[in-house]
Amino acid sequence: MNDQTPVTEAKPVKTLPDAQTVTEVQHYTDRLFRFRVTRPQSLRFRSGEFVMIGLLGDNGKPLLRAYSIASPSWDEELEFYSIKVPDGPLTSRLQHIQAGEQIILRPKPVGTLVLDALLPGRRLWMLATGTGVAPFASLIRDPETYEKYDEVILMHTCREVAELEYGRAIVESLPDDPLIGEFVGDKLKYYPTTTREKSKYMGRITENLRSGKVFEDLDLAPMSAEADRAMICGSMGLNRDLKEILEGWGLEEGANSEPRHYVVEKAFVGDGI
Ligand code: FAD
Ligand code: A2P
Repeated sequence: MNDQTPVTEAKPVKTLPDAQTVTEVQHYTDRLFRFRVTRPQSLRFRSGEFVMIGLLGDNGKPLLRAYSIASPSWDEELEFYSIKVPDGPLTSRLQHIQAGEQIILRPKPVGTLVLDALLPGRRLWMLATGTGVAPFASLIRDPETYEKYDEVILMHTCREVAELEYGRAIVESLPDDPLIGEFVGDKLKYYPTTTREKSKYMGRITENLRSGKVFEDLDLAPMSAEADRAMICGSMGLNRDLKEILEGWGLEEGANSEPRHYVVEKAFVGDGI
């Protein structure tokens, strides 16, 4: 390049202070993938929290979206589990990211799906649809979850079996995990269901709670405000419907500033409900 050459290229991400390097990418379906990135040395977070991540937009400005950290707080890297929205400003590009490339990560974790936002209880229910399983992928790998609860139940519902694979693989790896296996023991109960493809357990989380089928299948007592705590992460429709069910059973919504019986976070915004 000589002095007269105009500089038209966008600033590369790696020159930004918040750049992190992608270390691994795995695709599950044409709608879902996970990726891992380097972790800023100073980043501390509570399992279940989310951060803003993204890429440089065509205008040279960061294009950022909220993402739950799916890895546990003891992991030396960070993992994210992502949707691929065909025309989505971020994910239409993010889905093509490869190891060695860079993303932007704002190291300011926040969120309500944290153990601190719940009163002490005996059982913890994690209720997710789709990519809403991401914060729970972090929490089920956190020893504190098992120190605080006798039983942990993960209900995850997707349309099809292949969409459950990310969560299933993590759950199945836990008993043999050298770091977390002994904390998990037999405390974690997993209840994956599909709604549009045949599988062992079927139906929406809402239906399986209302009908009591999940309690029968897992041989558990029904939920009560005295024993049970819950975390919800899904579409606005799921969150609304589950709140109604849990409140009907006497559970009250909590927050970081006021711990109660259950907490909620949107897995995404904009489904118009
Ligand atoms: P956008 O313009 O952001 O979204 C376009 C449309 O796609 C939305 O209107 C919605 O209808 C649909 N959509 C967006 N995200 C999803 C999704 N995850 N599942 C189903 N439909 C969706 N997304 C993740 O993939 N993984 C996460 O861990 C995650 N954590 C989030 C945490 C919070 C607190 C919030 C608010 C959102 C989170 N999201 C997550 C959604 C994420 O912020 C983006 O919306 C998503 O990455 C799509 O970005 P986009 O720019 O391509 O499309
Ligand atoms: P369904 O197939 O009956 O719509 P999506 O892929 O649209 O984000 O949905 C993910 C999963 O969440 C699907 O299995 C879907 O079931 C389920 N779901 C969608 N809305 C609700 C709701 N309001 N309550 C419970 N489950 C829901």
